[in-house]
Amino acid sequence: MHQLEGRIAVVSGAASGIGRALATRFATEGMRVVLADIEAGALDEAAGEASERGAEVLAVPTDVASRRSVDALAAATIDRFGVPHVVCNNAGVSGTFGPLWETTDNDWDWVLGVNLKGVVHGIQAFVPAMIEAGHEGHVVNTSSVLGLSTGAGSIYAVTKHAVTRLTEGLWHDLRSAGSSISASVLCPGLIATRIVTAGRNRPDHLRNELNEAEVSEIDQRMRAAEQFFLESGMPPAEVAAMVVEAIGEDRFYILTHPEMILDQVRTRMEAILEGAPPPPEDPGDTLLSRALRERG
Ligand code: NAI
Repeated sequence: MHQLEGRIAVVSGAASGIGRALATRFATEGMRVVLADIEAGALDEAAGEASERGAEVLAVPTDVASRRSVDALAAATIDRFGVPHVVCNNAGVSGTFGPLWETTDNDWDWVLGVNLKGVVHGIQAFVPAMIEAGHEGHVVNTSSVLGLSTGAGSIYAVTKHAVTRLTEGLWHDLRSAGSSISASVLCPGLIATRIVTAGRNRPDHLRNELNEAEVSEIDQRMRAAEQFFLESGMPPAEVAAMVVEAIGEDRFYILTHPEMILDQVRTRMEAILEGAPPPPEDPGDTLLSRALRERG
């Protein structure tokens, strides 16, 4: 899809980080932009930034974990601008860290709900109308380098692997249906965003019961890790530029840090082919544990 000007984009997780940069970039490209996010205050600020680029914007407070909420987003989009051409299912949360046997059902429900079902809901709510409209279009789902690699137990990584495979499936389904909609999976490495403190938007009913000391310890570590991401990560605007380029070239895998992940992909596949155990290194976990060790 070469022409973005005058067309319609929807971005979830648009109040912060990569989603905000995508919305701003689409606005700069002359698109009409729908911004969706669960954090209403930050969403209004992001919508203000996009409209400063001269774009027509619509901000829709949305919980991507809820099918009903994403259906309402689709209805509001179509009502205001029409059927979108670009849909970025980007909202995501980092979840909790530690061995899998220490995870709770609340941890799983929260992270699966946003990271995996959020993408499923975006596909269900928008793609049928996009196919029916018969125009060109592109769906970009945000996974991660952790959606390609192996490593320590992580609900986050489980959901990101699922998003990678889900998007591969979507790509095949769209082609089998003879549709002019395409799809890409965005696999960022280390980006300067607020992903590590995603707990700020965790619904109360999915919080774990922790005492004050535990909450304060986790808060402190996450803030320190966030500082590391903000200082060391790639600026989100660079990620947005890569996404626009990939849509233009119809490129499926969008890797922001190929040097961080390609050896991992190769080593993991070699282990599968050779019947070896999973290779030990996980770039994301290594970065995050380093951040926690250095700062915590
Ligand atoms: P961020 O925390 O800056 O932005 C994520 C946005 O998603 C926030 O505005 C948050 O309010 C929103 N969100 C959270 N729960 C939501 C829900 N239920 N409904 C709607 N919106 C919700 O983080 P970032 O990094 O910009 O995250 C964007 C995507 O990039 C995520 O899918 C994340 O997993 C992915 N990613 C980020 C990396 C990084 O290094 N920052 C690396 C790899 C992937």
